[in-house]
Order: sequence, then C-alpha cells, then structure tokens
Amino acid sequence: MPFTLYQKDLSTDARLGTLELPHGRVQTPIFMPVGTQGSVKTLHPQDLESLGAQIILGNTYHLSLRPGSGLIREMGGLHRFSSWNRPILTDSGGFQVWSLAKLRKITEEGVRFQNHLDGAYMMLSPERSMEIQADLGSDIAMLFDECPPYPCDRKYAESSLGYTLRWARRCKTWVQEHQPCSGEGRQHHFGIVQGSVYADLRKRCAEELAAMDFDGYAIGGVSVGEPEEEMLRAIDHSVPWLPEDKPRYAMGLGTPPQLLEMIARGVDMFDCVMPTRLARHGVALTPDGPMHIKNQRWAADMRPIDPKGHPHVTQFSRAYVRHLFKAGEILALRLLSFQNLEFYLRLMAQAREAIAAGTFGSFKDSFIARYQANDI
Ligand code: GUN
Repeated sequence: MPFTLYQKDLSTDARLGTLELPHGRVQTPIFMPVGTQGSVKTLHPQDLESLGAQIILGNTYHLSLRPGSGLIREMGGLHRFSSWNRPILTDSGGFQVWSLAKLRKITEEGVRFQNHLDGAYMMLSPERSMEIQADLGSDIAMLFDECPPYPCDRKYAESSLGYTLRWARRCKTWVQEHQPCSGEGRQHHFGIVQGSVYADLRKRCAEELAAMDFDGYAIGGVSVGEPEEEMLRAIDHSVPWLPEDKPRYAMGLGTPPQLLEMIARGVDMFDCVMPTRLARHGVALTPDGPMHIKNQRWAADMRPIDPKGHPHVTQFSRAYVRHLFKAGEILALRLLSFQNLEFYLRLMAQAREAIAAGTFGSFKDSFIARYQANDI
C-alpha cells in the first residue's frame, strides 16, 4: 500500500502519514510548491531540497503547449529534464484551460480551446491528458475533470459532474490499457471530487470515485472565488465519503490558517501559488502575519524578516530586502520566495509534529491567533 497512516489527532481529524512514490517518500500533511513550467519560480532544485520540499507540482496544460510533452519524454521525462529527483505531481489540464485559454467548448469528447500562447485551437481529452502525464513521467497524475465556476446553478453542477465521472472512467480505462504494470515504480492516479456547493453531488462524486479505486483523491472546485466558509463546507461535504486509507488532496489552496483548518478536517496534501506569487508582489509571510516589504517602516530596520527563517534569508536585514525590492533586483524575488516557501514547509513540519504529539488542535488555534493578529 503506497499510503500508510501512522496516527490520528485526538481532538481533530488531522492525520499523519507517508506516501511511497517512485521518486521517494512524502510525509503528510505536505505542501507541494508549484512548478507550473517545470520550475518553481526563482528557485534552483537545490534550493528546494534545502528548504525540505518533498514533492512539487507541474502542469499538463503549460508543459504540453511548451516545450511539448513529446520533447520532455525524449529528454528522459520531467524529472530528468528539470533536474528535480524527488516526486512530482502533475495536474491534468482542464482547470488551467478553464482559467487561461481564450475560447473553451466542452463536449463529451473533452475540451476544445484556443491556447493562450498563440491562439491555436487544441483539444484536451481524458485520454490525451493521461498520455501527456505519462510522457511527463510524474509520480502522481491527476484525472481529467471539469471544474464548475462559482457561483454555479444546480443544473450546471449536475451536468458538469457527469463529465467528471464519465471522464474518470475513461482515464481509468486508458491507464489499464497503457500502464498495466502494478510495481512500486508505477505512476499513481488521483481522482478529483467536484460537485460545486451541493452536498449530495459531492457525496455522489466521492463515492463513485472511491468505487473506481484510485491511489488517492483530490477535492477540486474550491478556491474558485467562493467565500472561505463555502470552501471549508466543500471539504466537509467531500472528506467523509473518501476512503480512510488513501491520501486526500485539496487543490489550489490556501492561506496558512486555511491549510491548518483543512488538516484539521483530514486533508493530507496541498498546493498553492500563493507563497511564490505573494513573494513577487513584495509580501513576506511570517508567524506574525504577512509583511509588506515595500512599507517605509522597514527602511532602516536591521532585523531579519523572520528570525526563525532559513539562513539564506535571515542573514539579510528587512531594510536590505526592501531596498532590493524597490530597486527591482531579482535577488529580492528570490529571497522572498525562499522565505515564503520555507514558511509553508515549516508550517507543515510543525503540523506533523503537533499531530504526532497529539496537540494539533491547540497548535492550530495558537498559530492562527498569532498570524491573524498581524502584529509585526
Ligand atoms: N486546481 C485547482 N482546482 C482544481 C480543480 O478543481 N481541478 C483541477 N484539475 N485542478 C485544480
């Protein structure tokens, strides 16, 4: 069994586990830095290793457009091409078509769209997405799903869910026909629970996917513009129907407090562009909340951004990083990306320690209280 559950928290549904993947072991709960184009923006693979990143994410949509999954396959797969030797999870492409492509038409066959680079018409289908992800050679390939927008009426949500379930079966068939091996080194496949805000649709989707027996399950269709309570409700409406002995992944989320709330609800895996995107906008994440480095108040501040952070960042003063950012120096983006990813990865390590000690509930509450006080 690739997923082993070691411990459950006493007062919440938080879980401690490990996931054995072809390129290594991942401890859960885990955060996966986003490397859309085969690179986590501004960081070298060795930086990621020194930050303790255990798994990163890549994208079918972007990599199949440029440089092309055939080329990456010829270059030995995404790990070899990008020189990252630890696990990689790839998203299946439909969500990125939804958020990036110009024109989009969904049919039973798949999604036809005009790509955002040169406007050429293209088609992504369940089979094509699985084929591209097999070419990339990721450790975990996500099934091809349909993510409904928010808000979304019930009729649309139901019809969209029909695609997600029928496409999941087609993905499974493709895998059975093209990747029959069952050994340790095989690619793993995760189904994605959709159903928008409708509890019964989420339940149906989770149960039907569980019956198809995938290696893990994601909760999709969250962080699509809904308020936070709705996002947490979508998790609450999905998790109880997923198998206990398989990993659960909340896609595209979230702020540090949201991650802890989801861990408390039994979610094991996360990815989000937030840490690296905020870095590029001059925001450093700290235990006392987000710090806007451009602010005049840091102009002559000798202290490091976060004294408990990584030595690569603590060796510099807030004043220096502010100067670099205002001067448009690339090092500022790199240092802030380093800080923010270290902060997310440290948060996951702290969460794992707290679950092991049976104190996750109080850890979560005190972390959130300090973070939200924003008392920098
Ligand atoms: N990334 C964030 N949300 C989603 C989703 O619902 N589906 C997929 N495939 N990727 C996502």
